[in-house]
Amino acid sequence: MTDSSASSTPSAASHKLWGGRFAGGPSPLLDAINRSIGTDFRLWPHDIRLSQAWARALGEAGVLTREESGALRAGLARVGQRIADGAQPQPTDEDIHTMIDRLLHEEAGSVASKLHTGRSRNDQVATASRLWTMAACRDLDAAIRTLQEALLSQAETLTDAILPAYTHLQRAQPVSGAHALLAHFWPLERDRTRLANASRGAATLPLGSGAIAGSAFAVPRTLLQEELGFAAISQNSIDATGDRDFVAETLFTCTMTAVHCSRLAEDLIIYGSGEFGFVRFGDGFSTGSSMMPQKRNPDVFELARGSGARVLGDLVSLLGTIKGLPSGYSKDLQDDKRALFNAVDLLHLVLPAMAGAVAELRFDRARMRAAVSSAMMATDLADYLVKKGATFREAHGAVGSLVRQAEEAGIEMDALPASAFASAHALFGADARDALAAEASLAARDIAGGTGPNAVAAQLAQAREALTAASASA
Ligand code: ARG
Repeated sequence: MTDSSASSTPSAASHKLWGGRFAGGPSPLLDAINRSIGTDFRLWPHDIRLSQAWARALGEAGVLTREESGALRAGLARVGQRIADGAQPQPTDEDIHTMIDRLLHEEAGSVASKLHTGRSRNDQVATASRLWTMAACRDLDAAIRTLQEALLSQAETLTDAILPAYTHLQRAQPVSGAHALLAHFWPLERDRTRLANASRGAATLPLGSGAIAGSAFAVPRTLLQEELGFAAISQNSIDATGDRDFVAETLFTCTMTAVHCSRLAEDLIIYGSGEFGFVRFGDGFSTGSSMMPQKRNPDVFELARGSGARVLGDLVSLLGTIKGLPSGYSKDLQDDKRALFNAVDLLHLVLPAMAGAVAELRFDRARMRAAVSSAMMATDLADYLVKKGATFREAHGAVGSLVRQAEEAGIEMDALPASAFASAHALFGADARDALAAEASLAARDIAGGTGPNAVAAQLAQAREALTAASASA
């Protein structure tokens, strides 16, 4: 540390981790653009931990005496306690590392000036950010599970409900309500795998890399790794101080989760419209209109859908930040945390709100069932002909002509006269209309992953198992 004022008891106004080589002080305009404590304050528990590990490692390396190392660790614990008790940054604290250094001088006296030996804020902030990210991935996993639980609980009540599934947002084929809801469970399950991978990506220790070339003090990095719970040690100090892949991977994962929430929200918004009426939003999660007294608006789902754009913006912003950087640390990287924290904070608003709103949904089985028209079983009718020996192409044409006739007459397909079936294809028998029942259509699809009752029961069990397994290891 070259700042001589820092080795005596510094005043808050003068406390800096750098500055000795400058004749004058920094411009307030520099201070304003440079200060990041408003964003990085939340790194403090991780910064305290890694600094304690660093003090220990300096002791092991013979840079500090046992007493000095112990005094620093104890002093850092007191600093952590002060911040936990509400100690706030001074307007002059550049970032959280500077604030902790200032408080450590207050708590431990001049020995505090030895802590920064052999390290840089470059390896320090990378380490703290990785520790924060690993914890964030765990917390997000729990938040995603809460939404999955809400979806699964609703799905378990909808096994015998039937509604249309849509392609191109046109009625396609009937499916069970459980199947429709679980279509949103599995994307979230994939997000949890991605989160675990992102956490693994963050679990490489940069500390010991110094500013860019590695520390000149022989600190035992394996000891740091073990104390801080990292899975590996970085192999290249240039890479380690400038690497933000773990931020990009976490942000991509956050973006996928936000996109999945957005698509679920979109389905529910459509289901809740007057024209569909498949679902009613709970009072606790509906908003009214200042003008139209009748309104019941799904703001939670709309805000969740909108949040997807903001999280995507954070990913794009981070990728834009790192794309053109030279190797090693550049100050642009200070903005990585703004993007990361924004995205994670937003998901901690969206996921619980979605979970609460999903738990309060009331499905209208009659409206769902009424939306299933017999034309949606046209494929089943074609399959009927195939089973009787027709080729699928031939069957498709025959059923197509029946669809047209029903449409022209303005009636359901199962209301067409038997003569229409007979003239459409010779293989149609008296049982042809049975193929137009929605229940039969579902029952025919008991293939694994299909919407048949046994397949859906197995799917529900798998989903339950995925959540239980996670809770057991949590
Ligand atoms: N606040 C800085 C950041 O978040 C800490 C690292 C500062 N490093 C430096 N060389 N100025 O990136």
